[in-house]
Amino acid sequence: MQTRNFIKYWSALLSALLVFLGYVFYTFNVKTYRGNQSSLKKEQSTYIQIPSLRVQRKGLIIFGQDRSGTTFISAMFANDPQIFMVYEPLWITQRWFFYENQYYHRCISCELQVVSSIMACNFSRSPASTKFLSYVSTPWTGALPVNIFDTPNFCNKTRDVRNINCPKLGKNPGFVDRVCNTKYKHSVVKVAPARLPREKLADLVPRVLLENPDLDVRVLHLVRDPRGNINSRINLDWVKDYPSPKLPSTAADLCGSILINLYHADKTLTDLGLKHRYKLVLYKQIADDPLGTAKDIYDFAGFKMPLETEQWVLETTKPSAETLKKELEKPYSTVRNASGNADKWREDAFYFRNRIIERHCKTLLDSLGMERVSKPKLANHK
Ligand SMILES: *[C@@H]1O[C@H](CO)[C@@H](O)[C@H](O)[C@H]1NC(C)=O
Ligand SMILES: *[C@@H]1O[C@H](CO)[C@@H](O)[C@H](O)[C@H]1NC(C)=O
Ligand SMILES: *[C@@H]1O[C@H](CO)[C@@H](O)[C@H](O)[C@H]1NC(C)=O
Ligand SMILES: *[C@@H]1O[C@H](CO)[C@@H](O)[C@H](O)[C@H]1NC(C)=O
Repeated sequence: MQTRNFIKYWSALLSALLVFLGYVFYTFNVKTYRGNQSSLKKEQSTYIQIPSLRVQRKGLIIFGQDRSGTTFISAMFANDPQIFMVYEPLWITQRWFFYENQYYHRCISCELQVVSSIMACNFSRSPASTKFLSYVSTPWTGALPVNIFDTPNFCNKTRDVRNINCPKLGKNPGFVDRVCNTKYKHSVVKVAPARLPREKLADLVPRVLLENPDLDVRVLHLVRDPRGNINSRINLDWVKDYPSPKLPSTAADLCGSILINLYHADKTLTDLGLKHRYKLVLYKQIADDPLGTAKDIYDFAGFKMPLETEQWVLETTKPSAETLKKELEKPYSTVRNASGNADKWREDAFYFRNRIIERHCKTLLDSLGMERVSKPKLANHK
């Protein structure tokens, strides 16, 4: 009896001692280590920005004019289960500008906060990003390839009752952060220049990189030959064809905007020593070699392409005649017969239209080394 009490007594004492020693060890080592780390950081940050020692989350900003392959590349990432893909979140902030003007004017760098939160999987850190989450339960643009907030990781639906099991994300940013961090390895966001006033776009990209030193954020800039881009817009009836009097200004605006963004990306990122975080891809490269270009983009972002994404790219760009017929009826479909798609605008019938675009896009065409169309041999063209 006594022996048992004795053992009990000593083992209790021993455990207490172990806990105490553990605590001392922890305090001493971990605290000095943290102290060392922060002094190290302080020292380094005076020279260059050094990210924290843990593995950086990798993210990608896709940026480019509408009809330049951005939807296709976004849809590709949306089909990859390791990617937290948010398409055109700035439609939402733009709506604040129109419908909640007072809020918008008080909100400092709303766009930056939203894009940064997507990259960092941290919507709790800023009021604008938390507010953003209150708007995502329904699709916010017609061309949305997928609404990630409406997928089973965030929201379980039954067929009959919509949103029955969906948490109110705007009230629950911590939940979104947790799901984003644990279920997705990388973040990808697509923003179009049209969603931002010109000066703001110029600031947005470098600021997302600078204000998130803990992240490895890359920038993919997609550019399409303006003749191909306008051809696609005409097919969608967004703009009128030659001889519409608006054609010259459409061309001049489009090319001016692409040129400014190209120039800005080059100058700012070079000045900041961040040019290696930037990649320019032409629409034609995607059309000519969809899988090769997709792999290049994955490599650049530092992501690993899963087999299912590879298959998705092949199926989407080399569809069967039957699939293609069905998809052609949908205006924003990403399924296209890739081979030859980039050059459709070259047809003789479009000669005069192309000449007008060329006249108003001279600097852009020259800076990208794009050749002019030649005069068709037959006279019966538009
Ligand atoms: C902290 O830094 C000092 C010298 O700078 C070093 O001697 C010590 O081992 C470091 N401590 C830890 C826990 O890394
Ligand atoms: C979000 O950012 C805030 C402020 O920077 C930080 O305190 C918090 O730990 C971050 N949350 C997550 C989930 O990373
Ligand atoms: C939805 O259901 C799946 C499978 O049961 C579960 O893993 C997931 O966490 C659920 N999502 C939510 C938001 O409850
Ligand atoms: C796709 O285009 C190629 C080359 O123009 C052609 O050979 C092929 O038959 C087309 N496929 C379909 C399904 O139309």
